[in-house]
Amino acid sequence: MSRTVAVLVGSLRSQSINHTVAKALAKVAEGRLAFDFVEIGDLPLYNDDLWHEGRGPEAVERMRAQIAAADGVLLVTPEYNRTVPGVLVNALDWGSRPWGQSVWVNKPAGCCGAATGAIGTAAAQLALKAQMVTLGMVVMGHPEFYLKFEPEKFAEDGTVTDESLRGFLKTYTDALAAHIERLC
Ligand SMILES: Cc1cc2nc3c(=O)[nH]c(=O)nc-3n(C[C@H](O)[C@H](O)[C@H](O)COP(=O)(O)O)c2cc1C
Repeated sequence: MSRTVAVLVGSLRSQSINHTVAKALAKVAEGRLAFDFVEIGDLPLYNDDLWHEGRGPEAVERMRAQIAAADGVLLVTPEYNRTVPGVLVNALDWGSRPWGQSVWVNKPAGCCGAATGAIGTAAAQLALKAQMVTLGMVVMGHPEFYLKFEPEKFAEDGTVTDESLRGFLKTYTDALAAHIERLC
């Protein structure tokens, strides 16, 4: 049985390498995990004043509903100045409110990321994992997924052409599927 994973990518640009990696992960996970990509680019900057009678702006309600309906969550993050991009933190903040109604609590979750730099988002993920734990997500700690992006390993349509990289992606999604299965 295929489990649904809400996928949040912390980059808004059209040529994002993290979007490419997320799509490649979706392909290798087919049959075990169905990726539901969550739009976070149209969320307003977090502002308590935008809640009205327990409801947030339309984009916030849409995001919260997608996450609530998913069996698990996958955060795919770039690294900005050795930490998590603001756009992703903003989405985490919206999901964590109203107080007592966070959509993150007890969600099986993983995080991964790709960068052009050699450490492959390790610094960003360290910060992100701490926040995910604080938010009550049940974070998969192992295997870790840090990728120095090499464009020649991906075809135009996002398919991974490199055998070893495809194996790495499959190992990761297999582990995430097992993690979700254990907790569902
Ligand atoms: C504001 C900014 C800060 C960045 N800081 C880092 C960094 O700390 N470490 C790193 O490896 N790459 C850093 N980069 C380079 C990113 O790895 C690269 O731009 C990557 O393509 C971003 O992911 P995306 O393609 O999914 O948007 C930074 C890029 C930007 C725009």
